Amino acid sequence: MMNKKIAVIKGDGIGPEIVTEAMKVLDKVAEKYGHKFDYTQLLMGGCSIDVNGVPLTDETIAECKASDAVLMGSIGGNTTTSPWYKLPADLRPEAGLLKIRKELGLFANLRPCLLYPQLSGACPLKEEISAKGFDMLIMRELTGGLYFGARKTEEVDGVMTAVDTLSYNEKEIRRIAVKAFEVAMKRRKKVTSVDKANVLDSSRLWRKIVTEVAADYPEVELEHMLVDNSAMQLVRDPAQFDVMVTENMFGDILSDEASMITGSIGMLPSASMNETKFGLYEPSGGSAPDIAGQDKANPIATILSAAMMLRYSFDMTEEADAVEAAVTKVLEEGYRTGDIMSEGCKPVSCSQMGTLIAERV
Ligand code: IPM
Ligand code: MG
Repeated sequence: MMNKKIAVIKGDGIGPEIVTEAMKVLDKVAEKYGHKFDYTQLLMGGCSIDVNGVPLTDETIAECKASDAVLMGSIGGNTTTSPWYKLPADLRPEAGLLKIRKELGLFANLRPCLLYPQLSGACPLKEEISAKGFDMLIMRELTGGLYFGARKTEEVDGVMTAVDTLSYNEKEIRRIAVKAFEVAMKRRKKVTSVDKANVLDSSRLWRKIVTEVAADYPEVELEHMLVDNSAMQLVRDPAQFDVMVTENMFGDILSDEASMITGSIGMLPSASMNETKFGLYEPSGGSAPDIAGQDKANPIATILSAAMMLRYSFDMTEEADAVEAAVTKVLEEGYRTGDIMSEGCKPVSCSQMGTLIAERV
């Protein structure tokens, strides 16, 4: 019996609906395995702007730090129509997300991408490729690089000029590399380090440090791959990848590409971790404002994120396995939300999907 304090950030758009379903599943886990989960609901993103004038308050940060883990939905709205996007950049919903990652030291973002055999019909790749299946984990550096470097826009000699800075030090690279090799040891023992070492200094340092770290993991095969080639290999032969480790922006882009080949971004969980077992768990997809409040969203990515929380933050392996097995079962039985619907399957709403999964835990 374990007692865990979970900070819950439902957020904007479909966030509240999908997190509610993940909590339904967690409640079932608590009941079945005799645990107690205490939830503290917090605001972040657009909903925090509406109430507090800022996307992230110090109270939300403090509450997260005082919790065992954070479960999050999604933040943000329609970037062309929502009033949140009339605000200065540092007051928009996304600024809250970047700030919470930095404040909580969440430098390692784990994005597992696997093709469920039941969903191979939804995979946009040719059948000869999808038939091989794939199961990879993208380990994205989350608190460095271009997204956190100094930036400015100014007029230089009468010409508007914008600068973003891409900087990494060896400590930042080493700690994410160590995480990647540790995870690879529990998987198929292969690490692909993605960089642009033929052009960028930051990538050359990246490659050097990752190679040094690899020496401590003789059982793990290390390969270096340029980011442009990686983008191509992801659609040419995704089965070749096990753990892919890369810097912040490359990881942002490649993880969206990887999500698409699984059939739907609504299937992909993610975990953002610091050096300890603390983490923030959120679906890889966005707030999907176009379908918000209609009980149409796919809650599976959020439910699988909750399973990652059980596994990585709470060491509840059996419980995490049970949630993942329940998801597979529901897919086997043919239940589908709209995004993964195909002929002959049974269409269900977001809340029905959550109930079906909870019942099978
Ligand atoms: C993601 C998102 C965010 C990011 C945005 C919303 C700032 O795209 O989590 O991948 O780029 O990190
Ligand atoms: Mg992204």
